[in-house]
Amino acid sequence: MATDTEATQGAAGVSGSDTLTITDNRTGQTYEVPIQDETIRATELRQIKVNPDDFGLMTYDPAYMATASCRSAVTFIDGDRGILEYRGYPIEQLAEKSTYLEVAYLLIHGKLPTQSELDEWTYQVTMHTFVHENIKEFMQGFRYDAHPMGMLLAATGAMSTFYPEASAVKDEEIRYAQVVRLIAKMPTLAAFSYRHNQGKPYVYPDNDLSYAGNFLSMIYKMTELKYQPDPRLEHALDVLFILHADHEQNCSTSAVRSVGSSQVDPYSAVAAGVAALYGPLHGGANEAVLRMLRRIGDVSNVPSFIEGVKSGNERLMGFGHRVYKNFDPRAKIIKKAVEEVFEVTGKNPLLNVATELEKIALEDEYFISRKLYPNVDFYSGLIYEALGMPVEMFPVLFAIGRTSGWIAQWLEMIDDSEQKIARPRQIYTGGRRLDYVPINGR
Ligand code: CMC
Repeated sequence: MATDTEATQGAAGVSGSDTLTITDNRTGQTYEVPIQDETIRATELRQIKVNPDDFGLMTYDPAYMATASCRSAVTFIDGDRGILEYRGYPIEQLAEKSTYLEVAYLLIHGKLPTQSELDEWTYQVTMHTFVHENIKEFMQGFRYDAHPMGMLLAATGAMSTFYPEASAVKDEEIRYAQVVRLIAKMPTLAAFSYRHNQGKPYVYPDNDLSYAGNFLSMIYKMTELKYQPDPRLEHALDVLFILHADHEQNCSTSAVRSVGSSQVDPYSAVAAGVAALYGPLHGGANEAVLRMLRRIGDVSNVPSFIEGVKSGNERLMGFGHRVYKNFDPRAKIIKKAVEEVFEVTGKNPLLNVATELEKIALEDEYFISRKLYPNVDFYSGLIYEALGMPVEMFPVLFAIGRTSGWIAQWLEMIDDSEQKIARPRQIYTGGRRLDYVPINGR
């Protein structure tokens, strides 16, 4: 049995009352484990055994519903109050006053840049937007109608073969070069994937343009000598990149951290993030929203659709969130950006359907009692569609913005002395000690 002294060993700064007393009713023994930052260390439970040679107690937490896997100073979320902050700065202020590249700097460096730091950072990122011609050729080898997210996933991973030095993840200088490359080249890979899927020639980056403006140029440019992005679209896209830049330990970020914990190069780790974002429950929800709005088609069909949701036959896509149980602060900002974009592109009639759905749902007991509110994806699909993007591009756009967050979290993980290779335990449920049966005897 652990004594108090043993149990609190290594828990510097924990006062006597910040402990949890556990009685194991199998043995009658009592243990005291420290509580720090509202958590107990799962490894503390290993001392709880029936026999000395037991492995010790474990926690079972599929989908990490109540497990903190790291300490992080990147993003703060208070889901009950609808608060999202990057490095302590509220998302509302960043979306209104900052730019994506400044936010990327903030996430990666942990502080807002001075003017000269921002100029240098912007210069570095802008100068690295081109990709090796072999990457372009490699991408041209995909099937004519390849899903752009699948192409982005493969191209991100393939970059590790172009920068083999990136495997030196403990070398700060080398690491930084890959950080700049990843942020700079992601829009290029994303745009090449789009142009490929559309059967159009790839467009090289235009380094005279802003981060979002250059992306629009690589997407839309045809025969004109120079593409001039509409500043309102450029701004709306930049805001979307900011809103998607980070969201603490979500599925794709956990994937980046988990794969990165093997000390693989950052391209391979970020490719794991792209793969996670490819899934419909993560980066694909805005596509599902758009399909749902199209299916509803008209405001007059909204009440019967809502009835279908309440009776469990439908799901109101773009509503609800694992973390936000009050409102998703990003949804409010996106709603404003929708108006900005529609000023340029003309109003999408599906906006009326979305607005009516939101109005009815926010007043309905079913949604109120389950704390279901619009999330970031409820309106983002409408913007992407107004920008002329096919639904397959939605997660690709998400990935461009999220790259800065993935990298900031990866850098934090690499420098965290508490982190080791991620290696969960399991509860084994299969057979044991079976005798091999030759094939003709089965
Ligand atoms: N429409 C109707 N009912 C819902 C919805 C919805 N969108 N979301 C949750 N519920 C109900 C659910 O049926 C359950 O009801 P009951 O208690 O009667 O069984 C209750 O609300 C709790 O739901 P849950 O599934 O336990 O909640 P969760 O935290 O596991 O799921 C979610 C979160 C986002 C997966 C879910 O709300 C959902 O599927 N929403 C639609 C898809 C979507 O918009 N996803 C984008 C998420 S935001 C993007 C990001 O940050 O990556």
